[in-house]
Amino acid sequence: MSFTGSVSSLVVVGGQWGDEGKGKVVDLLAGGFGAVVRYNGGHNAGHTVKFADRHFALHLVPSGIVHGGSLCYMGAGMVVDPLALIREMDSLADQGVEVEGVEVEGRLFLSPRAALILPTHQAMDLAREAARGGGSIGTTGRGIGPAYQDLAQRRALRTHLLTDPAGLVERGRKLMAAHNRELELLYDAEPVDLERACEQLEAAANRLGPFVHEVGPRIEAHVERGDAILFEGAQGVMLDLLHGTYPFVTSSSCLPGAAAVSCGLPPRLLGPVLGIMKAYVTRVGGGPFPTELHDALGDHLRRRGNEFGTTTGRPRRCGWFDAVAARFAVRTAGIDAVALMKLDVLDELEEIRVAVGYRAPGGKLLDAPPADARMLAELEPVYETLPGWRTPTTAVTRDGDLPGAARDYIGFLEERLGVPVVLVSTGPRREETLLRGDGAVADCIRAAVGSELAVPSA
Ligand code: GDP
Ligand code: IMO
Ligand code: MG
Repeated sequence: MSFTGSVSSLVVVGGQWGDEGKGKVVDLLAGGFGAVVRYNGGHNAGHTVKFADRHFALHLVPSGIVHGGSLCYMGAGMVVDPLALIREMDSLADQGVEVEGVEVEGRLFLSPRAALILPTHQAMDLAREAARGGGSIGTTGRGIGPAYQDLAQRRALRTHLLTDPAGLVERGRKLMAAHNRELELLYDAEPVDLERACEQLEAAANRLGPFVHEVGPRIEAHVERGDAILFEGAQGVMLDLLHGTYPFVTSSSCLPGAAAVSCGLPPRLLGPVLGIMKAYVTRVGGGPFPTELHDALGDHLRRRGNEFGTTTGRPRRCGWFDAVAARFAVRTAGIDAVALMKLDVLDELEEIRVAVGYRAPGGKLLDAPPADARMLAELEPVYETLPGWRTPTTAVTRDGDLPGAARDYIGFLEERLGVPVVLVSTGPRREETLLRGDGAVADCIRAAVGSELAVPSA
C-alpha cells in the first residue's frame, strides 16, 4: 500500500462507544476528498463540527457538507427520518449558506434503498424503552431500532418512495396503522395521529424526492475520475449490532465493511481505516462500561470535556481509556491508524490510568471483551498508571510542543493498540489538531488536510 503524497479513499470509524469526535475529523479531512459518504445509522448520530466561531451539529447529513467542495452521499444502510432530514437541511441553510459556502441542495444524494423512519417508529422506540423499565437500553428515542426491525422483517418503506408521494402515503398509512395496533395492544401507548403523519410524509416527499439517486454508481464514477472517497461511520465499534456490547448496542453495523455493503461497492474501493478514539472513554445510555468513573474524576472529565450528548443532551458516562476494548476495536474493524481526540481534557490530571486487562470474578485474566454483556459487567479492569502532564495542551498543533508525559501517554497507547496515532486533537475546532508520524494513513491525512492546518510534520 502506498499513498504517499496523495489522498486515497479512507474510512472513518468510531473506535469506542460513539461520540469520539468523528464529525471533527471528517470535516477536517473532507476538503481533500471528492465525496463524503455516511453509511450507517440515522439521526441517533450527532456529529459536531467547529471552526473559528462556527458550530454545526450534523445528524443525518454527512459532516463533509460543511466543507465547500465535497459532494455528500447517504447510503442504503442508513435509516432516514424524512422530517428530521428536512429540519437538518433547513438548519444548515439557516446557518450560513452564503457565509461559509454551506450549500445543501445540489450537493446531497440520498440512496433510494435506505429504510424510512416513520413517526410510529419513534413512538414504538419510546414505548419499548418504557416497557423495559430498569433494563432499558437508553436509546436515543429516534425510532432507529424499530425501523431496522421493519427492514429485516421486509415490510419497511424505503427512500425511493420519496419520489412517489401518493404511494408513500398509501403504504405509509397501512404500515403505521399496524404500528398503532402494536402500540395500543402491546404497550398500552397512545397511537400516532395517522392523518397528520400522512400529511407530514407527503410534504416531506415533495421536498426530498429530488435528492434521491442511486449512490453506488455515482461513487464508482467518482473513483473513475480519480476522486478519493471519505466514508463516515456513525456510532462506534462497541455499539456495533454484532460485535458491540449486545444488547446495549445500536441496530446497525458500524464497522468499515458496512460502508461497502451500504453503498453496494466492492470492499477493495474502501481504502484504509482511521479509528477515532478519545484519550479517555465515554458512553451514553445503558450497558456495561468497565472503566467507568463514578466519582469526582468522572465529573471532572464530563465538565472539562463538555460530555453532554449532541443529539439528546444526556450527560455522557465517563471513564479511563480502555485499551482492551480499543484493541478489540482495532482488530474487529481493521483500524490501520488512530486519531486520538480530546487530549486537552486530561491536562489537569496528576495521573492517568489505562485498562490493560480485565479480571473475571474467579481471578482469570481476559484480554478481550467477552460476547456476553452480563459477563463484561462483572469484570474488573486491570490498570496501568501513567503520570499526567499538568500543562495545557489546548490548541497545540505540533507534536514537538506536547509535554513529554503527553507524548509518553500517546506512545503507551500506540504500543498497546499496535497501530500508530497519526492525529491528535487538542480542542474542538478544526484548527486545534496536530498531525504526526508517517506511513500510508499519515501521508494520506496530510495530503487531505493540505493547507487547512499550519502543521508542519513534527
Ligand atoms: P462524534 O459523534 O464522534 O462526531 O462526536 P460528537 O460530536 O458527538 O462529540 C465530540 C465532542 O467533542 C464535540 O462536542 C466536539 O466539539 C468535541 N471535541 C472534538 N475534539 C475535541 C478535542 O480535541 N478537545 C475538546 N475539548 N473537545 C473536542
Ligand atoms: P454518534 O454517531 C453515542 C447509543 C444510545 C444507546 C444505543 C442505542 O454521534 O457517535 P439507538 O437510538 O441507536 O437505538 O440507541 O446506542 N447511541 C449512541 N451513543 N453516539 C452515537 O452516535 C450514538 N448513537 C446511538 O445512546 O445507548
Ligand atoms: Mg456524537
